[in-house]
Amino acid sequence: MTRMLIFTGKGGVGKTSVAAAHARNSSNEGKKTLIVSTDMAHSLNDIFDLRIGKTIQKVSDNLYALEIDPSYVMEEDFADMKQALIKVIESSGIPIGNIGELSIFPGMDELFSLLKLKEIYASGEYDRIIVDCAPTGETLALLKFPELLAWYMEKFFPIGKVAMKILAPISKTVFKIQLPDSDAMTDIERLYRKLIELQEFLKDRKTTSIRIVTMPEKMVVEETKRNFMYMNLYDYHVDGIYINRILPKDMDNPFFIDWIAIQNQYIEELEAVFDGMPIYKIPWFDTDLNGLSGVDRIEQNVLKGRDVFSIQEELVSQCFEKVENGYNLLLKLPFIEKGEVILHESGTDIILKIGNFKRCIPKPNSLRNYAVTGAQLSDGILTVNFTEGGIRE
Ligand SMILES: Nc1ncnc2c1ncn2[C@@H]1O[C@H](COP(=O)(O)OP(=O)(O)OP(=O)(O)O)[C@@H](O)[C@H]1O
Ligand SMILES: [Mg+2]
Repeated sequence: MTRMLIFTGKGGVGKTSVAAAHARNSSNEGKKTLIVSTDMAHSLNDIFDLRIGKTIQKVSDNLYALEIDPSYVMEEDFADMKQALIKVIESSGIPIGNIGELSIFPGMDELFSLLKLKEIYASGEYDRIIVDCAPTGETLALLKFPELLAWYMEKFFPIGKVAMKILAPISKTVFKIQLPDSDAMTDIERLYRKLIELQEFLKDRKTTSIRIVTMPEKMVVEETKRNFMYMNLYDYHVDGIYINRILPKDMDNPFFIDWIAIQNQYIEELEAVFDGMPIYKIPWFDTDLNGLSGVDRIEQNVLKGRDVFSIQEELVSQCFEKVENGYNLLLKLPFIEKGEVILHESGTDIILKIGNFKRCIPKPNSLRNYAVTGAQLSDGILTVNFTEGGIRE
């Protein structure tokens, strides 16, 4: 089975370098490896000193690279899907025929990058796929996107003819939206199924891991904690953290001695909050890592000889457990305060809002007759209580 690692982190922390080091490590082990960049900044070109084009290119033995270009992917690989999306959008009353450019809609580039990733994965061509992402904000948009879109589609375009008939007369007057005709509806169903598959693919703990790259300094550590919390919120499987640019200990210049002390403080904090997770420490090298020889320094110093591709199955961020008078949903949400979480029930979904992020957790069928009767946040774990026929507190 193909193994996939997705690297994320704040801008400039070393995501591309660390991802490339994994790609080298993997291909050195004789595994057929593809490194994919979803970042429009195209930084793989510089490292591998290649003109990595719009299609997959061989870099060295067992190593291949691709910089995904969403517009190209949309035209070349998913033209049908693009047409279907345009039809769906037009049938809801927005004429985009003469623009014909789907990229102007937020999230479309991300969607097509992910679809491409899934297609490559499904081909089974590679033993390992290493994904180098754009900085955190964009990556989060990328990862929460399929879920959000699927949710909106379900709300606005309920699947199934019965729902259609009931909703059609009301929808125009109450919701001021026009439901698509049945032809477009078939496309919507297909699209919807694709989105669900995409989510399952990205969250499949048996194959996919998210790895966070960070540095031992205040702002980066803060963002790393937030990023990790959001990954848990969306139930992505984070199973490794990389602390990059650690200063050598043997310096006697007072300027550096102070900095080493500061770094140590943040390294300790990271070790405490990511306790139980593999932590990789990467030294600050004496030059920039430009090019393969630089990337290989990370590979040699940090990765070589370690089992960097294994899955840490015990790191679970979300689960249901049976308790005396019902069920509890446990969600690991570290580093947040009580007031930051807004929780409510909407139909068959539990909706959690933290800042600008919103997660819809479908209630399992077996809990259909249960209602949320309480929630507690302690030690970074949110517990949501479900009681049969329960009345909300
Ligand atoms: N441990 C290190 N020692 C020395 N230089 C490093 C180290 N890690 C990264 N660099 C250098 O820092 C710069 C940024 O690294 P890189 O491009 O890997 O970061 P990134 O997180 O991918 O950035 P972006 O968010 O812009 O995509 C590069 O010039 C790289 O060579
Ligand atoms: Mg990068």
